[in-house]
Amino acid sequence: MRAVWLKEFGGPEVLVAGEASDPVPGPGQALIEVAFANITFVETLFRASGFGPFKPELPVIPGNGVGGVVTSVGEGADRGLIGRRVVSVTGGSGGYAELAAVDAAGLIEVPDGVELDTAVALLADGRTATALIRAAGPRPGERVLVEAAAGGVGTLLVQLARAAGATVVAAAGGARKAEVARDLGAQVVADYREPGWTDVVREAVGGVDVVFDGVGGPIGRSAFELLDRGGRMLSYGLASGEWADISDGAAAARGVTLVRGPSVKPEEMSALTASALAEAAAGRLRAVIGQRFPLERAADAHAAIESRATVGKTLLHVR
Ligand SMILES: NC(=O)c1ccc[n+]([C@@H]2O[C@H](COP(=O)([O-])OP(=O)(O)OC[C@H]3O[C@@H](n4cnc5c(N)ncnc54)[C@H](OP(=O)(O)O)[C@@H]3O)[C@@H](O)[C@H]2O)c1
Repeated sequence: MRAVWLKEFGGPEVLVAGEASDPVPGPGQALIEVAFANITFVETLFRASGFGPFKPELPVIPGNGVGGVVTSVGEGADRGLIGRRVVSVTGGSGGYAELAAVDAAGLIEVPDGVELDTAVALLADGRTATALIRAAGPRPGERVLVEAAAGGVGTLLVQLARAAGATVVAAAGGARKAEVARDLGAQVVADYREPGWTDVVREAVGGVDVVFDGVGGPIGRSAFELLDRGGRMLSYGLASGEWADISDGAAAARGVTLVRGPSVKPEEMSALTASALAEAAAGRLRAVIGQRFPLERAADAHAAIESRATVGKTLLHVR
């Protein structure tokens, strides 16, 4: 099969397409003929330096999420799965490939009416955004600030917060990205590449009740300053290269609750993705797929993500 290899950590160019032996589904596994592979921001960090939750040995085929059709199963797995449209995590590697052997018990069936590309786009980002919204529990009328609001997770947070009745403040890097968030329902938008972006937010809504901080660094710290007493700061990423790093003391002094995570238990992951897929099937959640790259061009996909040029989700189109 064709696959993308990572033989050493480094820039996007270390992702090189080549041949790999076809995986054979072992006991309890299913073989997926991959239509789309997911790319998350954290996979660019892994490629660069090995950062992240998974520590596979090199060389490795990266990629933790795929979607496609089950073509065969291993011993003990349900043969009724063959022919089904599914999405699945891979356990941290093997996703950027034409075939993936995964745990059959972890397969998530794609509901009727949801395209495979949408399902792959929601596999990780939908899970993360759903977990974050549940952890924050925004109430109707609360003011919710979403950073990187035009990104993979951000575009979903904007929609889910709006659906909960919140007033959504979308913060993003650049006017084009801010408009993407407005189109998804954000009532207030701010471009944090502009100095004084927090003044724009203050003038529009005073302060905020919830911050979803996937960027960290100075942007995360500025967003924290916007929180009113009783507010919640959910820090779930460091796209800027560093965490917002708000101390417990600083949060307590302002009457703000810090939530670091989301801490999703492995047994909860599939249900969270399934919830996002059900929302999509009901027409209440839209996956914004801004970029599609052929498998062979995984390096270009990574380069686009880390240069901040992407909007919404970036997928590898495998077959
Ligand atoms: N995907 C998941 O399931 C998941 C799970 C756990 C944690 N996270 C975390 O959530 C955050 C968002 O993940 P995502 O996959 O949805 O990515 P993404 O938002 O599609 O891409 C990252 C975004 O971060 C912003 N950013 C700010 N400073 C940046 C910098 N110095 N370099 C690059 N980007 C920068 C950019 O948006 P602007 O140009 O608008 O600033 C960029 O588009 C990441 O921190 C990620 O680690 C994601």
